[in-house]
Amino acid sequence: MRPSLLECGRCARAHDASVPQSLCAACGKPLLARYDLEAAAPSMRPGVLRRTDLWRYLPVLPVAEESEIVTLGEGWTPLLESPPLAHWAGLRRCLVKDEAGNPTGSFKARGMAVATAAARALGIAEVFVPSAGNAAGALAAYAARAGLRATVAMPEDAPEPNRLECRAAGAETLLVRGTIADAAAALRDRFRGSPAFDLSTMREPYRVEGKKTMGYEIFEQLGRLPDWIVYPCGGGTGVVGMWKAFDEMERLGWIGSARPRMAIVQSEGCAPLVRAFEQGKEEASPVPDPSTCAAGLRVPSAIGDFLVLRAVRASGGRAVAVPEAEILEATRAFFASSGIAACPEGGAALAGLRRLRACGHVGAEDQVVLFNTASGLKYPDVLEAALRV
Ligand SMILES: Cc1ncc(COP(=O)(O)O)c(C=O)c1O
Repeated sequence: MRPSLLECGRCARAHDASVPQSLCAACGKPLLARYDLEAAAPSMRPGVLRRTDLWRYLPVLPVAEESEIVTLGEGWTPLLESPPLAHWAGLRRCLVKDEAGNPTGSFKARGMAVATAAARALGIAEVFVPSAGNAAGALAAYAARAGLRATVAMPEDAPEPNRLECRAAGAETLLVRGTIADAAAALRDRFRGSPAFDLSTMREPYRVEGKKTMGYEIFEQLGRLPDWIVYPCGGGTGVVGMWKAFDEMERLGWIGSARPRMAIVQSEGCAPLVRAFEQGKEEASPVPDPSTCAAGLRVPSAIGDFLVLRAVRASGGRAVAVPEAEILEATRAFFASSGIAACPEGGAALAGLRRLRACGHVGAEDQVVLFNTASGLKYPDVLEAALRV
């Protein structure tokens, strides 16, 4: 159903959901979609949901009816148990939410499916996004599917499969020197005064809605919420989305007030959220010279930083940074021990989980869901490097 309003995540000011909106008009922070959950509740019961993609949660997604859906078959990814992986991390059991099988090979498909559907329903014809790589690939594909014109910009050293998939899907593809922040600046210059719509992370409210479906899926697949969710964090859309999903699930009567602990993992080469967490800050300071082989984690500053930090703290979770050598080692171990095509971001999450276990934050008996957010096959250079360690 369409949201009844969009609410600022910082100052709670309400915005009209029937027109395209970016950031809060009062304080410039991200907007979050709010639904009439009482009206949604009868059709949002696990036994009643029938589709086997993320659109099974249509009553809490921002399109009015099935005809507005844009889909390539995203979501409802497997939750896989791996005893050797659990052993490697020092746990009795470990479940992997494997997002590699999504269209375009990453969980960015979830956000872009929902954002392009909402954009088209709102009458938008042209969209653009700065990206570390995977979001650009996902937007290129979903814009092609939705009949929207798309421009993407990413660092010139983004993984080659990302650069290729964008061009192949027909998006205008800009490569910039620097990071995703420089890609964003280039696009804003280019589209200043244009009706083209900015789909940057959390600058519009609907990519979070796509990502929140991971929270609903974990609950449905497990029959409960886990003790920990371990997530490789860049802009933080997934954390904000899942945290929002748990809140909605409580109000829909699916769960009580208990929540999983949310652990976010970043690379030591770019760990703004981890540093803010350690320093007790509500917002993160930008990293001047970010560097990591896990391209999706090379996000020097995140506009939703305060929402991520709020969720991690409220859950009793942790934030941990891991060195590059451990990311490579863990990516290889992830793939080889489980058969799951681990990406370096997934490897970072596994390395972070092992650290959290080693220092006793995560207990050996805790039930953990670890995210593999993309297919490792989108990172041939990193896999080569991982095989050399
Ligand atoms: C594979 C992968 N994992 C994790 C992330 C970080 O995601 P989020 O923005 O939800 O923190 C990205 C972002 O580009 C990514 O591509």
